[in-house]
Amino acid sequence: MQNGTVLVTGANRGLGLEFARQYAADGWRVVACCRSPKDAPELKKIKADVHTLDVASQDSIQHLAKALHGTPVDVLINNAGLHGDRRMFGETDVALWKQIFEVNTIAPVQILTALLENVASSHHKKVVNISSKVGSIGDNPSGGSYAYRSSKTALNMAMANAAHELKARGITILLIHPGWVQTDMGGTDAPVSIEQSITGVRRIIDKATLAETGHFYDYTGKQLPW
Ligand SMILES: NC(=O)c1ccc[n+]([C@@H]2O[C@H](COP(=O)([O-])OP(=O)(O)OC[C@H]3O[C@@H](n4cnc5c(N)ncnc54)[C@H](OP(=O)(O)O)[C@@H]3O)[C@@H](O)[C@H]2O)c1
Repeated sequence: MQNGTVLVTGANRGLGLEFARQYAADGWRVVACCRSPKDAPELKKIKADVHTLDVASQDSIQHLAKALHGTPVDVLINNAGLHGDRRMFGETDVALWKQIFEVNTIAPVQILTALLENVASSHHKKVVNISSKVGSIGDNPSGGSYAYRSSKTALNMAMANAAHELKARGITILLIHPGWVQTDMGGTDAPVSIEQSITGVRRIIDKATLAETGHFYDYTGKQLPW
């Protein structure tokens, strides 16, 4: 895929930082968004346009959209996410559940809404949502993590839905499980390295055409059950 502009949310650490690092190393223009750029020392080492974005804040999303007015965004990566809850049935904190939905489900849709013309006016027109296999109803062997699981299931539905509506504008929307990865969220027992995961996800982004819009893959390119 020819180089263009990629926008990544949650670019200060974990998978988001690696997206920024790899795309910048390949010569892409990187728009790296995070809550607190001044506290993102690793991001400062990367050639990127850094913007402040709290994905749970409508004001913050609108501020970003204004700053990027007229800038084509070839690949929009909704990466920022919150786990926050590994509790079992009956134990989930409702306020936390709402917060997790705001970050994992509502924010990606609001960001796509605010940046729709940026994506539609670009060459590649791709939207990548970092979902999770634990949001799969068809592949849930264990229970638990009610807020996180349901937030990713709802993200899958919202974006698979948008894929239908935005296909006519040539926009390809993907849902991708990055693997169980060695980040702050994944922990040190995770079997997949950050570099391995993002190399795999980028390969899927590269290859995806409008024919794949609305599909759910893992980082190896395997299609996952909803
Ligand atoms: N690691 C895994 O095994 C795994 C597996 C499946 C799916 N995922 C998904 O992959 C994505 C990245 O996860 P990760 O493993 O890199 O997690 P991480 O290391 O915990 O990083 C999470 C990122 O999301 C950002 N974030 C959280 N709330 C935000 C908000 N309100 N506004 C802006 N940014 C916010 C964090 O920023 P702050 O530093 O400001 O908090 C951080 O940059 C998430 O969507 C996650 O659900 C991860």
